Amino acid sequence: MAGLCNIDEAVRLLQSGQVVGLPTETVYGLGANALDTKAVAKVFEAKNRPSFDPLIVHIADLDGVRSIAELTPEAESLLLAFSPGPLTVVLKKKSIVPDLVTSGHPTVAVRIPAHPMMLQVLQQSGLFIAAPSANPFGYTSPTTAQHVLAQLGERIGGVLDGGACKVGLESTIVDFTGESPKVLRLGGMDVALLELVLGELPVQTSSSTPHAPGMLSAHYNPGAKIVLHDNVRDALRAAIIINDAAVLLFGPVDKADYEHQYSLSVSTSYTEAAQNLFAMLRELGAKYPEIHAVRLPEEGLGRAINDRLVRAAATR
Ligand code: TXA
Ligand code: MG
Repeated sequence: MAGLCNIDEAVRLLQSGQVVGLPTETVYGLGANALDTKAVAKVFEAKNRPSFDPLIVHIADLDGVRSIAELTPEAESLLLAFSPGPLTVVLKKKSIVPDLVTSGHPTVAVRIPAHPMMLQVLQQSGLFIAAPSANPFGYTSPTTAQHVLAQLGERIGGVLDGGACKVGLESTIVDFTGESPKVLRLGGMDVALLELVLGELPVQTSSSTPHAPGMLSAHYNPGAKIVLHDNVRDALRAAIIINDAAVLLFGPVDKADYEHQYSLSVSTSYTEAAQNLFAMLRELGAKYPEIHAVRLPEEGLGRAINDRLVRAAATR
């Protein structure tokens, strides 16, 4: 069973080809040296992840991005505006990137993460780090080091504890390899902000997108059945009938009618709801057989949170 490690140990493990749980501002990643095919293979193995699902490469700075990918002017302007941060761009890859990282595609997903400890690992190691979210394939993404240890502790070299993730949702992915940029995954960076730089951005997160199976419709399984509702009244009605189901809502809670109610954010903050989402799904999934969740308004990070809820609801 692996334990927590410090930055020096994490760097040493990565340099010797091991996989390590690493904190980022979005969710914890399961990292390995992106240029070492054997190390990358261990990531797929530890996660039980199908090899047709490509990984994101984490990089310290723009020069690093240029050394493994063809940076277009539009992608560069987006990275200059929003990196380090919860943003991933898909670019044409250079030949230095192993096929296993990109699942054989001529493109590579790259991101400059904002977590100071992760940035230090990148700088100190001098590595490019391929890292998917540090959960077994199909399960809820981890937002604490303890989540990583609980699910993958037996299969990895260690976990660097960087505290609870500040964003809580995976990065927003923008593809720059087509005719014009498009969003492949809604995430921690609000698309409206990206549009300030790029103009209108189409969102194409269809679960059928063949080269992005991480967008599979069934994902984020927290171990309970999840049912989505349009309003609190409907969620309560459904949960009360079962009498042993949790209601997960956004905004203030009135427990007079039913005790098992939980709020992603009492003050209706999308930022707080995003921070809480995966940890609450995990907690409630362990405690209740069913979670009746209320959709958030389709605006800002609410869109990305709804996206995760829909996928979690599709798992059973
Ligand atoms: O916030 C995040 O992005 C986190 C942290 C650890 O950085 N990582 C993460 O990785 O969410 P993962 O593997 O769970 O999701 C990566 C997504 C997948 O949906 C994958 O299909 C997509 O990125 N992806 C990777 N390379 C791609 C490529 N070349 N073209 C299109 N999609 C790609
Ligand atoms: Mg993932």
